[in-house]
Amino acid sequence: MGVQRQNKIMYGGDYNPEQWSEEVWAEDMRLLKLAHIDIVTLNVFNWAMLQKDDEVYDFVKLDKIMELVKENGLKVCMATSTAAHPAWMARKHPDILRTEHNGMKRKFGSRHNSCPNSPTYRKYSALLAQKLAQRYQGYDNIVAWHVANEYGGQCYCENCEKQFRVWLKEKYGTIEELNRVWNLAFWSHTMYDWEDVVVPDLRSEEWFWDYTRTNFQGISLDYRRFQSDSMLACYRAERDAIKEIMRGVPVTTNLMGFYKDLDYQKWAREMDFVSWDNYPGHDAYPAQIAMSHDLIRGLKQGAPFWLMEQTPGVSNWHPYCALKRPGVLRLWSYQAVAHGSDTVMFFQMRRSIGACEKYHSAVIDHAGHENTRVFRETAALGKELERIGAQTLGARTPADVALIFDWDNWWASEYSAGPSRLINYHGEASKYYRALSEANIAVDIIGVEDDLSGYKLVIAPMLYMCKDGFDEKVRMYVKGGGAFLTTYFSGYVEDHDLVVTGGYPARLRDILGIWVEESDAVVEGKCNHFTYKGVRYPADILCDLLHLEGARAVSAYEEDFYRGMPVLTENDFGKGKAFYVAAGSGREFYAAYLADLCGSLGISPVLKAPEGIEAVVRENENGSFLFILNHNDADTAVTLADSGTDIITETAYAAGAQVTMAPKDVLILRKR
Ligand code: GLA
Ligand code: ZN
Repeated sequence: MGVQRQNKIMYGGDYNPEQWSEEVWAEDMRLLKLAHIDIVTLNVFNWAMLQKDDEVYDFVKLDKIMELVKENGLKVCMATSTAAHPAWMARKHPDILRTEHNGMKRKFGSRHNSCPNSPTYRKYSALLAQKLAQRYQGYDNIVAWHVANEYGGQCYCENCEKQFRVWLKEKYGTIEELNRVWNLAFWSHTMYDWEDVVVPDLRSEEWFWDYTRTNFQGISLDYRRFQSDSMLACYRAERDAIKEIMRGVPVTTNLMGFYKDLDYQKWAREMDFVSWDNYPGHDAYPAQIAMSHDLIRGLKQGAPFWLMEQTPGVSNWHPYCALKRPGVLRLWSYQAVAHGSDTVMFFQMRRSIGACEKYHSAVIDHAGHENTRVFRETAALGKELERIGAQTLGARTPADVALIFDWDNWWASEYSAGPSRLINYHGEASKYYRALSEANIAVDIIGVEDDLSGYKLVIAPMLYMCKDGFDEKVRMYVKGGGAFLTTYFSGYVEDHDLVVTGGYPARLRDILGIWVEESDAVVEGKCNHFTYKGVRYPADILCDLLHLEGARAVSAYEEDFYRGMPVLTENDFGKGKAFYVAAGSGREFYAAYLADLCGSLGISPVLKAPEGIEAVVRENENGSFLFILNHNDADTAVTLADSGTDIITETAYAAGAQVTMAPKDVLILRKR
C-alpha cells in the first residue's frame, strides 16, 4: 500500500513545538503558512513527555498540538517517538541500554540508544505506537506514520547474545551446520553447544572500534544480518500495532541512503513506502546525491519515495557545516523530485535553542521572523510547488541500466581479510554510477533478488559474494540477450562467505569466459596501465591475473610481470554478452568505456548536455517530465532535443531550442 495520491508535492517537515511555549505556536502557524508549508512530521522525540512511568501516559500536550495543526489545515506525518527512550525507563529497566562494541554498558543519554533485543524496549515501543494509533485514529489529516527515527547502530549486550543464538538456531538448525558454515575447524573454534556462541565484538573476534576487522567473516557477517533483523523486528512490532487500529494508513521509517548497518532492501519489503533523509556534505558532487536517491527509489522497484528530511540551510554535524548556496535548496529539492520523490521535506521547522542541534538550520531561524535568506528561499519554493500541483506525482523513471547493490556483499567484501585495504564496495559501485549519471543515462539501483529481465545492461561491481541462485539468474538473463558487467573481486564466495573452489570467479566463470588465477593488490597512489581506444588509463586497487576461457581480450596490462595479460574482456554467451573489468581505474576510463558500452547496446542519454547539467526523466499519465538541473555556478547553455512546456514557468520551448540556464536553475519540461 502506498500513500494516497495528494493534490501536490507535499512540503514541510519535522516540527517540534513541544520544545517551545504555547505562545510561540501561533507565530509558527503564521510563518508556516507564509512558507506554503502543508505537512508537518510530529512527535519524533516525545517519549519522555508521553510516558512518565510504567503505567502512566500523558497525551495532553500532544492532543493540543494535533488540534493546532489540524485547525491550521496542515497534514501530519505521525511519528511514534521511539528513537530515544525516557531517563526513568533506563533507570528502572536497564536492559534497555545498549552495550558498545568494546563491551561497555551504556548509561542513559544520546538517542538511538535502545537495545533492539531488550524486552522492555520491545514491549513499550509497540505499546506506545498502539496508544498513539488508538488516540489519533480519528484525525483524517494523518497521511502517513513514521516509526521511530533513523534506526541504526549496534548492540552487543547479553540480550542480543541470547537472541543471536535463537536466530542462528532458526537459520541453521544444528550445531554441526553452524560449524560448517562458519568453518569453525579453523583455529580450533569448533562449537559443541549453542551456548558456545558469543557476540563477535572487540572481546571476541573483531578489532577496530568500527568493527571493520574480524577473524571470522562468517560470524561477523551473520551478526550484521542479525542486528539488521533485530531492528527490523522492532519496526515491524510498531507497524503491526498501528495497522491493527488504522488498517488503511501507510507506514514508513526514515532511512539514510547508503547506510551500511541495515539491509534496506530487506527492510523495504516491510515498509509501505520508503522515505529518506538527504544530508550531503559540503564536497558532495551531484551524481553522489543522485545515487542515494536512486538507491532509495530502487528499494520499492521504482515506486515514488518521500524526501523526509534535508536541511534548508546548514547542518550542525558535518566537519564543515557549509551553507547551502543561494538556489541550492531549490536545486536539491527538485533533484530529489527528479529522482522519484513525491515530497520535499525539511528538518526542521523552528531552530532549537539548546543542545547539539541549535546551530542546525530550520525554516524559522533564531531571528524568529520571515526576513531571512533561508526563509525567503523556502517560501519561494513552497509557492512554486503549489503552482506545479499534482502533475509529477506517482511518476516512474524509465531506465535501461541496472546497477546491482547488495548489503551482504557490502559487509562481506569489506570484512575480507585481504587482499587490500582499498577494497571499497560502495566506492566501486559509485564509479560506474557516476559515469552513467554524468552522461545523463538513467540507472535503477536494484538488489540481487530483483528482476533483471527489463534491462539492457546489468552492472554488478565487485560481486564478491555470488549468492545461491544469482548466477543462474544472470546466466538466463545473458543467454536471453542481456548484457552483464562485473569486476575484479567478484564470484569468490557463496552466501556464508565460504570460498567456492575450482577457480575464480567460480559461479560466474562460464558466463564471463575467464579464469582468474591470482590478484595483485596495488598500493595506494601506484598503478599499472592499460590502453583503451588509444588512451592510456591507470589500473589500480586490485589487478586480476586472468586467463581467457572463451572471452576476447579488449585490453591488456602494460607493466609488471603480468604485462600482456587481459584487463578488459568481452564474452559472447547465448544471445548476450558478458564484460569483465579486471582492475580499478579512473573517472575518465569509466566515462569512455561506459559511453561505448551503452552506445553499442542502444542505451541513450535522456539529454546530451554540457558538464554540470543533470537530466532525469519521470513519466506518468500526465506525460513525460524531463528535469534539467544546472549544478554549475555559471550560466550554461542547453539544447533541447524535443519540444515541451516548463511546468514551473509554463513557458513553451520548441525542439532544438537553445536555453541558457542560470546557475542552479531548474527546468521541468512536460512532453505529452
Ligand atoms: C537526522 C535526524 C534528525 C536530525 C537531523 C539533523 O536526519 O533524523 O532528527 O537530527 O538528522 O541533521
Ligand atoms: Zn542488546
